[in-house]
Amino acid sequence: MAAPTEQVVGCVEEAAAEEKPRILEPGAAPFGNFPHYSRFHSPEERLRLLPPELLRQLFPRSSETRPILGLDVGCNSGDLSVALYKHFLSQRDGETCSDATGELCFLCCDIDPVLVERAKKECPFPDALTFITLDFMNQKSQKVLLNSFLNQFGRSVFDIGFCMSVTMWIHLNHGDHGLWEFLAHLSSLCHYLLVEPQPWKCYRAAARRVRKLGLNDFDHFHSLAIRGDMASQIVRILTQDHGMELVCCFGNTNWDRSLLLFRTKQTTETQPIPESLIEEWKRKEEVTNLETVRWESIDTNKEVVKRFHAES
Ligand SMILES: C[S@@+](CC[C@H](N)C(=O)[O-])C[C@H]1O[C@@H](n2cnc3c(N)ncnc32)[C@H](O)[C@@H]1O
Repeated sequence: MAAPTEQVVGCVEEAAAEEKPRILEPGAAPFGNFPHYSRFHSPEERLRLLPPELLRQLFPRSSETRPILGLDVGCNSGDLSVALYKHFLSQRDGETCSDATGELCFLCCDIDPVLVERAKKECPFPDALTFITLDFMNQKSQKVLLNSFLNQFGRSVFDIGFCMSVTMWIHLNHGDHGLWEFLAHLSSLCHYLLVEPQPWKCYRAAARRVRKLGLNDFDHFHSLAIRGDMASQIVRILTQDHGMELVCCFGNTNWDRSLLLFRTKQTTETQPIPESLIEEWKRKEEVTNLETVRWESIDTNKEVVKRFHAES
């Protein structure tokens, strides 16, 4: 394991790789399929930024009981999926809601079958979390597998998607167009989308690591035109090209990754954002370093997105 100081300033992917990457190709984790990823980028570090009641407030229960459907893309061995599930069922005091059974159902997918098998075996909530092996970039199997899950609930889209520390791996392996398409699919599949993009320094670290291992560079690394401030780039693609709107930036993790919540403009037109969340996010804005929350403030989000576009 890397020295703690190096982990704090460096990139978690690099730290994870130093702990014996799992083998798909000798010595590599070419998709970010690290076997113990959560040891380096802990679920708690992300959860502490997210209000536990977030989903209950975004999707208030109506008289018809229908579960909130979540899609976790790039779930690895499921540690974060399970932690998100527990977190969103809990109250502020950490207690689990008593009437929570059946409230949330997640479909969690990963390209690495070994990680998915581990996730299935270790999942404490097998009725609520379904793990499948899926290369999300394979459109055909993506459509079949996701639809078969959604059909069970008579639905055609997910309420919320989670895309946590995955965008870089899609980008490195599929190039600019691949990243653009990936975000297009996600935005068409989910009303809300929570994204944790890896910053550009992680791209350099990943490229350095494959070089150190004597492996070929990522096909696309040198030709990527989408680069630099990756959080801003992802905001730009989702809001300008894919009809989403930035709702909130929940701040940054210790690893310098922002947690960004988007929703489709269609959702914006039909569902107002709950007042309580607006208040919560205003409060957060007051206590958070403004430098790290350039796009925060839900009630002025249109203005903020406009400003963001003007700056980028
Ligand atoms: C760095 S890990 C992040 C794991 C987890 N989301 C988290 O934040 O703790 C990235 C995950 O994305 C998965 N992944 C990469 N490309 C993928 C693809 N095309 N389809 C599905 N999963 C993919 C990798 O196998 C890996 O488990």
